[in-house]
Amino acid sequence: MLHNIEKILEEARQFSADTKDEIEQFRIRFLGKKGILADLFSRFKDLPSDQKREVGQKINQLKQFVSEKIELLHANLEEHADKEDMRDLTLPGPPVQSGARHPVSIVRNEIIAIFCRLGYTISEGPEIEDDWHVFSSLNFPPEHPARDMQDTFFIEKDPDIMLRTHTSSVQVRVMEKESLPIRTISPGRVFRNEAISARAHCIFHQVEGLYIDQNVSFADLKQTLLFFAREMFGKQVEIRLRPSYFPFTEPSAEMDISCQICGGKGCNVCKYTGWLEILGCGMVDPNVLDFNNIDSQKYTGFAFGMGVERVAMLKYQVRDLRLYFENDIRFLEQFKAAY
Ligand code: DAH
Repeated sequence: MLHNIEKILEEARQFSADTKDEIEQFRIRFLGKKGILADLFSRFKDLPSDQKREVGQKINQLKQFVSEKIELLHANLEEHADKEDMRDLTLPGPPVQSGARHPVSIVRNEIIAIFCRLGYTISEGPEIEDDWHVFSSLNFPPEHPARDMQDTFFIEKDPDIMLRTHTSSVQVRVMEKESLPIRTISPGRVFRNEAISARAHCIFHQVEGLYIDQNVSFADLKQTLLFFAREMFGKQVEIRLRPSYFPFTEPSAEMDISCQICGGKGCNVCKYTGWLEILGCGMVDPNVLDFNNIDSQKYTGFAFGMGVERVAMLKYQVRDLRLYFENDIRFLEQFKAAY
């Protein structure tokens, strides 16, 4: 029996507990009515008297050890709980990663803000369009090669339904429903069937501008675009208008800005011309006005269209378009801006 008690004592020594429940289980197992000690005491009664003294001492020793151990375990647990409440509440919390707006959104919002300061409204139109709004009412004749300038994703044939290839379609939507004068910009996504490369993508963003009123002149267009360029790129920027062709404007032009890297002296970014192309523009073709029931004898207008990614490339000197679409956080988190 003595040997048995030693083993039980050793078991009690080994015991440890993390919760009050575990301590209580331990107490019941040893000190409960049907517990180990109760059993030992009842067996003690039947012992021959010459053994009683030694075994009795051992059992008492075990009982005392278990009682003290229970107290100790409770004390330990409480000390631990106290420590939890002693956590330093003044320590800074774990860092929260802040997000950053996408560079395309930043530049789009900047373009919008500049034209809003000039009193332009913002208009939007559908990304899935019909032939009339994307081509025909913008003076693209059927079968005219100008349609090849924009490789189109068709959704349905006869009648043609397509993803818009430019935001110029929103010009038409605005002319249909708004009264004159019109002064609006139309930001949005456009789609072209192009192989993806550093310089081209099948999805990108444009901002279209349209101003129609009496006596709107090319001088107004030029001055508006100069204001835009200087707000966007800085007061030192010069602009240059080169004759070009778009079916919906006559005359048409492409605008360059002076290269911001070399200040116009010539470098490899501007291919040693000192200039970088930024947008297309022109006076709204009288046909387009007439198609949309605006009297081209009385009203004139100008329009322009720019690629948001293109402006972002010029502003941030990021020359590979694909970076704007890959959503690599290491790239995106470099752009933090007010817009
Ligand atoms: N829609 C043209 C394009 O996608 C851009 C453009 C050029 C828009 C001249 C205009 C404009 O409004 O007048 O390439």
